[in-house]
Amino acid sequence: MSQSRVGLEAIAFDVPSYSLDLAELAQARGIDPLKYTRGLGQLEMAVPAAEEDSVVLAVGAGKRLLKQFNADASSIGLLIVGTETSVDQSKPVSSYVHQLLGLSPECRVYETKHACYGAMAGVQTATDWVLSGRAHGKKALVIASDIARYGIATPGEPTQGAGAVALLISSEPTLVEFETERQGYYAEQVMDFWRPNYSKEAFADGHFSIQCYLKALARSFEMFVGDRSRFMPTLDSISACLYHAPFPKMMQKAHLSLLSCARGTELEQGSPAYEQGVADFQRRVAPFLELNSRVGNIYTASLFLALFDLLEKSTSAQEGSRISLFSYGSGCTAEFMTARVLSGAGERVRTGFSSKTLLEARTRIGVQEYEELFNASGRMDRDGSFNPDRKVPEAVTRQRDVAFLGVKDHQRQYLTYSSPQAY
Ligand code: HMG
Repeated sequence: MSQSRVGLEAIAFDVPSYSLDLAELAQARGIDPLKYTRGLGQLEMAVPAAEEDSVVLAVGAGKRLLKQFNADASSIGLLIVGTETSVDQSKPVSSYVHQLLGLSPECRVYETKHACYGAMAGVQTATDWVLSGRAHGKKALVIASDIARYGIATPGEPTQGAGAVALLISSEPTLVEFETERQGYYAEQVMDFWRPNYSKEAFADGHFSIQCYLKALARSFEMFVGDRSRFMPTLDSISACLYHAPFPKMMQKAHLSLLSCARGTELEQGSPAYEQGVADFQRRVAPFLELNSRVGNIYTASLFLALFDLLEKSTSAQEGSRISLFSYGSGCTAEFMTARVLSGAGERVRTGFSSKTLLEARTRIGVQEYEELFNASGRMDRDGSFNPDRKVPEAVTRQRDVAFLGVKDHQRQYLTYSSPQAY
C-alpha cells in the first residue's frame, strides 16, 4: 500500500578525533588568517586520524543514531552510504557498515556516488521506496560519510574536513517531513571538481566550481518553481534555507543568488536590496552554519550537518515551519527541495547528544601534526600497511569503538574494541 508521509525519524553525526584551528593554518601558510575565518567563514577543520576512514566515520554516525534514538536495527530494510571517499572500486563502504552496525541480512545495501550529491541521491531513493509502499513498514538508513582532501598548501586546503551524518527515513517521521509535491533538479557535465582513481586528493577549478554551483542552484530552483499555478511554496514561506556547505561564505553567495532568482533581478552589491539580502542571510541561513564552520567540508554530509544544527536549535516557535534544502554535487548535479520541521523535533534531537560536547571532545592539534596525519592516512590504504601491534591513539579510542588498521592481503582490516564512553 502506498504511503502519503515520508521524512526523518532520527539524525546523528560523527566527526574525526582531531581538529585544527584555521587561523594557525593560515599563519603557517603565510596567509592573513582573516582570509580563512572571514573570507571563507571557516574557523576550524576536522582532521581524521590514520585509523579513521569513511567506513569508521559512517559507523560512528550510525551507532550514535541507533543508540540515541533507540532505533530498532532489525527494522532497517535499506542501507545506503553516500560517499565520494570510497575505499574500493567494487566493494561498497556500506557492506562494512552493514556488518559493523549489526543490521539484518534482509536489507538492501549499497553505496551511491555523485560528488557531494551522493547522499541526497540516497535520500531521494529512500523517499521513493517508502512512498511506493515497497518498504512494507521497514525503514531506510542513509549515511553520508566523507573525508575532503585537496592537499597540503593548495587553495582548497582550508576547505578540507571530514565526518558523517546518519539519517533514518520512514513513513512515520518525527523530526522532518519531506514535501514531495515539487522537486527541482539539474545536471550538466562540467570539470569543476574531480578525483581520478589514481589520486587520494581532489582537483578543483575553485572559482569555476563556485560559478557551477550558483548556476545549478538557479536552474534547480527554476524547475522547482515551474508552473506557479500549482502548489508553490514561496520563498517567504521558508523559515530557513539550507545549502550544501563547502565553506560557510559560499552559503552567503548561494542565498543572495537565490534571492536574485526569486526576484528576477540581480542584487547589486551596495544597493539597499543587497543589504537586505545580507540581513536575510543572517536570519535564515547563518544561524545553522555553526557546525560546518568548525568541521569543514564533509562533501555528501555538509548539507545534513547544517540540518542537524537547525534541528538541535529548533524551538516550538520554529516547529511546523517550512525549510529548503539544496544539494550540489560537482561534475555536476543538484537538487532543491522543501520539508517541514515537525513539532517536538528540537527536544528529540537535544535529548540525544550535544554537538558542542562532541566537537569539544576532539583533540586540537597543530599544523605539523596535521601534516603528519595527512601523510599517514595516505599510506594506510596501501597493501601491507596492516600492523597487528598498531596502537590506536587514546584520542581515537575514547571517541569510538571501531578503528581501521590498514590493509593485509589486499583486504581492509577493522578492529572493534570496548569504549564505554564512546557515542
Ligand atoms: P582562493 O583563490 O584561495 O581564495 O580560493 P579567494 O582569493 O577567492 O578568497 C576567498 C575569499 O576570501 C574572497 O571572498 C576574498 O575576497 C576573501 P569573496 O570575494 O569570494 O567573497 N579574502 C579576504 N577576506 C578577509 N581578509 C582577507 C582576505 N583575503 C581574501 N585578508 C576557493 C578559494 C574556495 C576557490 C578555494 O578554497 C577552493 O578551490 N576550494 C575548493 C573548491 C570549492 O570549495 N568550491 C565550492 C563550490 S563547488 C562545491 O561546493 C562542491 C564540492 O563540495 C565538491 C563536491 O561536490 O564533491 C567542492
